[in-house]
Amino acid sequence: MGCDHLVKVITYGTYDLLHYGHIRLLERAKALGDYLIVGVTSDDYDKSRGKINVQQSLMQRIENVRSTGLADEIIVEEYEGQKIDDIKKYGIDIFTVGSDWKGIFDYLNEYCNVVYLDRTQGISSSDLRKKQRALDLGLVGNSRFLEKVASQVKMVNGINLSGICTDSPEDIGREVMNIPFVTRDYDELLTKCDAVYVHSTPKEHYEQIEKALRAGKHVLCEAPIAMSGEQWDNLQKLAEENGVRLMDALRTAYSMAYRRLILMVKGGKIGNVVSVDATCTSLKDLNTDDIQRKWNSICDWGPTALLPVFQLLGTDYTEKSIVSHFVGENKDFDAFTKISFVYTNAVASLKVGKGVKSEGDLVISGTKGYVYVPAPWWKTDYFEVRYEDPLENKRYFYQLDGEGICMELAVFARSITQSQSLYAVEPDVSKAICEIINDFNERKGVRII
Ligand code: CTP
Repeated sequence: MGCDHLVKVITYGTYDLLHYGHIRLLERAKALGDYLIVGVTSDDYDKSRGKINVQQSLMQRIENVRSTGLADEIIVEEYEGQKIDDIKKYGIDIFTVGSDWKGIFDYLNEYCNVVYLDRTQGISSSDLRKKQRALDLGLVGNSRFLEKVASQVKMVNGINLSGICTDSPEDIGREVMNIPFVTRDYDELLTKCDAVYVHSTPKEHYEQIEKALRAGKHVLCEAPIAMSGEQWDNLQKLAEENGVRLMDALRTAYSMAYRRLILMVKGGKIGNVVSVDATCTSLKDLNTDDIQRKWNSICDWGPTALLPVFQLLGTDYTEKSIVSHFVGENKDFDAFTKISFVYTNAVASLKVGKGVKSEGDLVISGTKGYVYVPAPWWKTDYFEVRYEDPLENKRYFYQLDGEGICMELAVFARSITQSQSLYAVEPDVSKAICEIINDFNERKGVRII
C-alpha cells in the first residue's frame, strides 16, 4: 500500500524570461514528489489578473519550462479557479508555489497538501523586464489628462516618466505625482527622453511630432495624428527615415472586448457585414472650457467612431457625406457631426457630438445576425451577438483594462524594444482618419445645418 503510489506535484507560473529563481523553484517542486506538472499561465489569464507586461508569448514560456527538463507534463492555466479542477483531474498530492504567495492558496488544503517554497532572493521576471527596456517617456500637452497618463506610466514595466511639457506647469501636481520635471520648453523635454506621448490640441500635433521624429524620438500621439493624409504620409516617412515609431493613441483599439468583437465579426460570426453604426457623444461646457473648444466634435470623437467602420469595412468607401451642426459666434464649432459612407456592399454611419447628447452604442449588422455594444461602447467590457432566434443570442464579457492607457503604453514600449509592428490601429486606418479630418476642415462635401 502506498509504495507504488506516484506522488504528483503541481505548480503554476508565468515563467517569463526564465531565470534561476524559476529553475530553483522547479527543482525543489520536482523533489517533493515523483511527477511534476507545471501550469503555465495563458496571455489572456495574465492580462485578466493585471499582469500586462509579460514579454514572451505563451509558446516561448512553455518552451522555457520544457527546456529545464524538470517538468513531466506542462499544461496551460486559462481561468480563475482552474487549480481546483486540475488538482482533481490529475489526482494531485501536492500543490506548491513560491513563498511570495504564502497564505493565498491555503484554500487548496481541502484538496491536497499545499507547500510554499522559499522564493529565491534578488531575481524576478519583473526586474529582468525593467532592465531590458527602460524607455524614458516625456508627455506633452495642455490638459489634466496628462496627470492620468503620468500615473499610468508607473504601472508599465520598462517605461520611466522623464517629464512633462505644458503651457501651464503650475496646474501639474509635480511633487505629489513625483514627476522629475515640468517645463514649458518642448526642446528641453526632447533632450531628456527617448519617446513622447503627445496629447496637445490636434493642430499642434504635426509640428510637435515632426520635431520629435527629427530628434530621433518615438511618438505615441492622440488620434488624429495629423490634420490630413498628406501630413500623415510625411510623418510616417520621417519616422521610417529616423528609425523610430509613430503610433496612434486610441484607447478603444486596445480594449479587450472591442478587439475580440472585431475578430469575431471578421471571422464571420454575423455573416457579411452590411452596416456599421457608431455613436459617440459627450456634453461639454463649450462656452468656458477653452481646451474643450480646441478639440471639436470630429477631432475628439471622430477617430473612435471611425475605428470600427474602417477596421471592418476597410478604407475604400465609394461615397461619403458629412452633415454638421455648427455653433459659436463664428459658427466654427461642430456641436454635432454625422458622417455616412457607402461601400460596394455595405454602408456605415457615425454620429459624434460635444454639444448634443445621444445613445452611445455600436451596432454592426450582418447577413446572419448583428452585434450590439451598449453605451458607452468605446469603453465597454461586454457585447452581445444577436440572431433572428433569440435562443441563439450570446453575451460576451471581458476584463476591462482600466481606461486602456496602460495597455496602449505597454504595446508602444514593446513595439519599440522588440521592433515588432504591434499596431492596434493599422496604418491605413490611421491615415484614413486623418483624411476625414482634412475633408471636414476644408468643408469638402460638408453640409452645414
Ligand atoms: N519564483 C521564485 N523565486 C523567484 C521568482 C519566482 O521562487 N525569484 C517562483 C514563484 O514564486 C512562482 C514561480 O517561480 O512559484 C513562477 O513565478 P513567476 O511569477 O513566473 O516569476 P516572477 O519572477 O515572480 O515573475 P514576476 O516578476 O512577473 O512576478
